[in-house]
Amino acid sequence: MAIDQKVQDAHRDDRKSARIVGAGVHDGVNGMICVAEFAAARQVLRSNGLRQAGFRAELLERFTGRKNAPVLFQDGEAHQKQRSATARFFAPKVVGTRYRALMEELSERLVERFRSAGNAELDAMSLEMAVAVAAEIVGLTESKQAGMARRLNRFFDASDPQRGWLSAITAFAASQYKMLAFYLRDVRPAIRGRRKTRRQDVISHLLNQGYSDREILTECLTYGAAGMATTREFIVMAAWHLFENAELKHRFIASDEATQVALLEEILRLEPIVGALYRRAEHELTIEGKGGPIRVQAGALLKVDVRAANTDPAAAGACPFRADADRDLRATRSSDSLMSFGDGPHRCPGAAVALQETAIFLDRLLRVPNVRLMRPPTVKWNPLISSYELRGAVIAT
Ligand code: HEM
Repeated sequence: MAIDQKVQDAHRDDRKSARIVGAGVHDGVNGMICVAEFAAARQVLRSNGLRQAGFRAELLERFTGRKNAPVLFQDGEAHQKQRSATARFFAPKVVGTRYRALMEELSERLVERFRSAGNAELDAMSLEMAVAVAAEIVGLTESKQAGMARRLNRFFDASDPQRGWLSAITAFAASQYKMLAFYLRDVRPAIRGRRKTRRQDVISHLLNQGYSDREILTECLTYGAAGMATTREFIVMAAWHLFENAELKHRFIASDEATQVALLEEILRLEPIVGALYRRAEHELTIEGKGGPIRVQAGALLKVDVRAANTDPAAAGACPFRADADRDLRATRSSDSLMSFGDGPHRCPGAAVALQETAIFLDRLLRVPNVRLMRPPTVKWNPLISSYELRGAVIAT
């Protein structure tokens, strides 16, 4: 390789979400400890005595308390128990059999609809895909999925920053209304069905544990955010990269599913959907950083900067901002997407689900003759999960 080419590659930045993050988007809090190195980030997420402090966990706790809180907001022993009890819904065998059939059938239906129409909105397709799969796992199967996708979409769409108390009150009232609509149309019928006959899903499990309707509703919203809102963005982001990078697209189509998943994880490493994770220290601890130990006082707030950790050259290797189909991350003993699914006890249980459904859907889509990205998505910022939102991408044949 010519020296000029090497220098160019070292500075190449393939991230499509970099501009919006660089455009003055800050979610920092004074006094917060920001952890940007991969090794230090992993220590934080694997440490005992840290509590979930992201996704407005501390605000939620004031209203609901910790008992029977959604799994994302639990910690310690209660959290561990809940994770082991729900692990069966995410076991590789279950994902590879029960959910796989649904993913294939749905992908084929969506792609067929697109083929006969000649064009489609990519984020509408990805929402339908993500909602259907997560709904099956959770047990939200008694209502029409298109309607549920619309209700959840309204709930999670990043709204413009609120200005003034009046718009804050209006937004609060609107979110209560949206929550009620989701409860009445989707969650309550699912609970009623499962009170009569339990099934193999999260809602049945929660009923067995004595959760109230309200507690089940909050868990369903958590899965809505954690499983549906994330995966829908990822499908669009991965498609965007593959449409615009001919080499990557060619590799993707020519590969088996395991390699396709590795390519998708490389894209996810570059473009994490959840850009930052937060924890509150319950007692003093020390994190080993490259520049020496970082002392954390009890009560301190820590921010794990996922975007920075994923592009730390100590973990990602050379040219960390490049989408590199041959990147080898085995030495990190981490998955190919590094911190994008988190780490430690809260690591995403749905990682294999999200990767498999994205691989299956994009494999079907990219094989459509002459399929192209007619209009790339616009990129918005969602401060709740330090994430981008991709809307308005249009594909055509
Ligand atoms: C590309 C898609 C996805 C991404 C990027 C993603 C990312 C994450 C991350 C970073 C966490 C850790 C949060 C923390 O440590 O504070 C997490 C947790 C979680 N995710 Fe995912 N996720 C995805 C898809 C899914 C799917 C498909 C499901 C289920 C259907 C799911 C369910 C959950 C749940 C229940 C948690 C909470 C786990 C706990 O706190 O113990 N996620 N996810």
